[in-house]
Amino acid sequence: MSDEFLGIDVGYGLTKTFNTDNKVVFPTAVVASSVNPMFSDSLVIEVDGDPYLVGKEAVHHTGAGEVRTVSFLGSPEWLAVLTAAILRHGFQSNAFENPSLTIGVPPRSFTPGMANRLKEVIAKSKVHCNQKRISLNKLKVDVIPQATAIFFAYLTEHPEDIDRNTIVVDLGYLTLDLVAFWEGRYLQESSESHTLGISILLDTISKRFFQIHNAVLDRFAAYDLLINRQIELFNQTVTLPDLDTIVRRYVKQVCQTIEIFMTKFSFPVHRGIIAGGGAGLLTTNGNGLMNRFMVVTDPIMANAKGYWRYAGDSHESV
Ligand SMILES: Nc1ncnc2c1ncn2[C@@H]1O[C@H](COP(=O)(O)OP(=O)(O)OP(=O)(O)O)[C@@H](O)[C@H]1O
Ligand SMILES: [Mg+2]
Repeated sequence: MSDEFLGIDVGYGLTKTFNTDNKVVFPTAVVASSVNPMFSDSLVIEVDGDPYLVGKEAVHHTGAGEVRTVSFLGSPEWLAVLTAAILRHGFQSNAFENPSLTIGVPPRSFTPGMANRLKEVIAKSKVHCNQKRISLNKLKVDVIPQATAIFFAYLTEHPEDIDRNTIVVDLGYLTLDLVAFWEGRYLQESSESHTLGISILLDTISKRFFQIHNAVLDRFAAYDLLINRQIELFNQTVTLPDLDTIVRRYVKQVCQTIEIFMTKFSFPVHRGIIAGGGAGLLTTNGNGLMNRFMVVTDPIMANAKGYWRYAGDSHESV
């Protein structure tokens, strides 16, 4: 039997979907398309009559398609990405009685008003793909604070930790999200979101690379350089001499932010868990505190998995 619950994490860097049938990852990139959808073999999503290319096609189209702005959430571009995620996942919402979708927003932006606004955007959407209307209004949508889902995903493997006081660190592309659970309760008031995601490091690497090699690196090439420590440029293999210093400086800033966050709590912290694309970077280069944190299984997928679990838990008995 197919799964009627779906978790979608529209991150600023990558969009992730998860349920028991499938999981999908693609770059969160979107551009207004000048291509007539009738003559394109790419996935063209029309929102209110305006066509958009989403994911790799958007990256190739313009070389960027970045969405690092606060106004992205709830915009037509965001709706195009969300629809592309549902379609690429192959989620056939029409096949179910109560298809349920859970998504997230950065914890600091989360308010019930904001959640309702996003639900309304989805319910009232006029979206088409290949001339076909995509009806999102049948979906039961929940919006929860991002990073809390990492704890829910973690609990699928460690159900005994449900009442443990837990700090969750989510180092994503744009944001560093920090949330806490005390005796199984989420502490919304203490949650924090900082613009300190891995893209800040990638920007510094690109800038330095340009100064030294006079060549522009996009976010994918900068990440490649970060991981492989070298990159091909005009038949040559080139490096960035001060890469280690740049990484160390960035990780130090992230660690300091986490340490300051932790001083808020007077209760003993039992578990520290990390997820997001920057998780490995933190534990490899971080200080002693970070060594006591545990990277969750499949750290990039963790939020999407947690959203899926939340959708299942809140709608299963309905
Ligand atoms: N295996 C990988 N493949 C691709 N990107 C990776 C990988 N590992 C780490 N990254 C980096 O992590 C980023 C994505 O991390 P993540 O999915 O946690 O961010 P996000 O959720 O999109 O961002 P935010 O939480 O700020 O909205 C990528 O943009 C890339 O820089
Ligand atoms: Mg994220």
